[in-house]
Amino acid sequence: MATVPFDASSDEQTTGGSYFVSNYPPYSFWNAGSAKTALDVLAQPPAADTALGFYLHIPFCRKRCHFCYFKVYTDKNASEVDTYLDALIAEIRLYAGLPVLGGRKPRFIYFGGGTPSYISTRQLGKLAEAMQQAIPWDAAKEIAFECEPGTLTEGKLRAIRDLGVTRLSLGIENFDDAILKANGRAHLSKEIGRAYDYARSIGFPQINIDLIAGMMGETEENWKECVRRTIELDPDSVTIYQMEIPFNTTIFKEMKASGQSVAPVATWGTKRRWVQYAFEEFEKAGYTIGSAYTAVKDPAKAKFLYRDLLWRGADMIGLGVASFSHVQGVNYQNEHEFGAYCARTSRGELPVYRAIAPTPDERFLREFILQMKLGRVSRRYFEDKFGQDIHRRFEEPLRTFEKQGLAVLDPEGIRLQRAGLMQVDKLLHQFFLPQHQPQNGPLPPILSA
Ligand SMILES: C[S@@+](CC[C@H](N)C(=O)[O-])C[C@H]1O[C@@H](n2cnc3c(N)ncnc32)[C@H](O)[C@@H]1O
Ligand code: SF4
Repeated sequence: MATVPFDASSDEQTTGGSYFVSNYPPYSFWNAGSAKTALDVLAQPPAADTALGFYLHIPFCRKRCHFCYFKVYTDKNASEVDTYLDALIAEIRLYAGLPVLGGRKPRFIYFGGGTPSYISTRQLGKLAEAMQQAIPWDAAKEIAFECEPGTLTEGKLRAIRDLGVTRLSLGIENFDDAILKANGRAHLSKEIGRAYDYARSIGFPQINIDLIAGMMGETEENWKECVRRTIELDPDSVTIYQMEIPFNTTIFKEMKASGQSVAPVATWGTKRRWVQYAFEEFEKAGYTIGSAYTAVKDPAKAKFLYRDLLWRGADMIGLGVASFSHVQGVNYQNEHEFGAYCARTSRGELPVYRAIAPTPDERFLREFILQMKLGRVSRRYFEDKFGQDIHRRFEEPLRTFEKQGLAVLDPEGIRLQRAGLMQVDKLLHQFFLPQHQPQNGPLPPILSA
């Protein structure tokens, strides 16, 4: 496939903030006043045929990476971690008795963070046992588990495998020690090879590698080397994020303190070009591009149920501090402070902090926006489920995208061209309702192919 030329003259610098769209309506519209709507749906039996899955948030890390925007703690001691895990277990037990489960067994379980592999083998065993007792996951087709390579020993990897983990995800990010250090990562390159080899030898059905295009200090040459080394490792899937500098990151705080508005990372055009290069190299090595962020070796084997079911409206119960849930169409978030989360769950309360009950049209938009990130959307799906013709509903922006070489419309639906896929999060804002458009001024321009 030919390289898409990006217009260097309109290349934008990376500044503070985030385009990344992970849900709809935007989080800024979720509010504490609507928390009761979440509690109400949890007290109702589920709609027929809605798949169910769980996300468990483990918010601990060895170090906070300078670019990280997740809710993580690096200062908790072993007894505080135990207190948190007890709160998580209390929350799991609260859910086990709720009408919304309706006898359903989870189809997927996702251990995310933070760093789930940070907790000890003993703690992991205790958490998994309590979870299995309350909500058996024997029918789950996917159990995903995120790891930071430096936290993995052979013993811990065996314990993770013994939980039934099917998809192990390694946050490798880069292979260069100077870049890893400059960005505050806790692991170095020698730990990557060791963790990967152990994981392979233990035999996980699927190993994913996370990379970031545009870490501080990244160069053209080094990025190519990262792609080469990733292909050499031969993972089942690769996830590539374009570096963002959200306002709660250490990098942004330092930019602000020194009065700088431009982040010390590559421009958006360069990051898109780097992802584009990586995708082309992965394709040459036999991989298929599965979404705006992923390359998969064998699409028939390397499924990602958590993403695919969630983006098609499945119920996903997020457990843990600050976790997000989507249940029976309602979006909600847990208490986002450690103390408040632990206190509420130990009192036997569901720790719901804020929520939003989307209208039927917003529920349609949520699924459409999320599925666009796959790079292809089925017209039939939205006609059958929501009675909406996506071509007619979005005629204006789609025609513009087509003219710009970003998307192709056919009777089946919409397909993003590579140039559209590389900037999909920016395109998605075009489908937001007017009241949900960014309030802090216009987004940077979308670039034609
Ligand atoms: C929860 S972490 C994965 C597990 C583990 N905590 C780790 O970092 O190895 C999820 C992923 O988000 C990505 N990420 C974090 N902050 C980012 C940022 N500012 N821009 C782009 N990607 C980011 C990284 O690729 C990271 O692996
Ligand atoms: S290890 Fe992962 S979750 Fe933890 S601070 Fe770094 S990127 Fe964030």
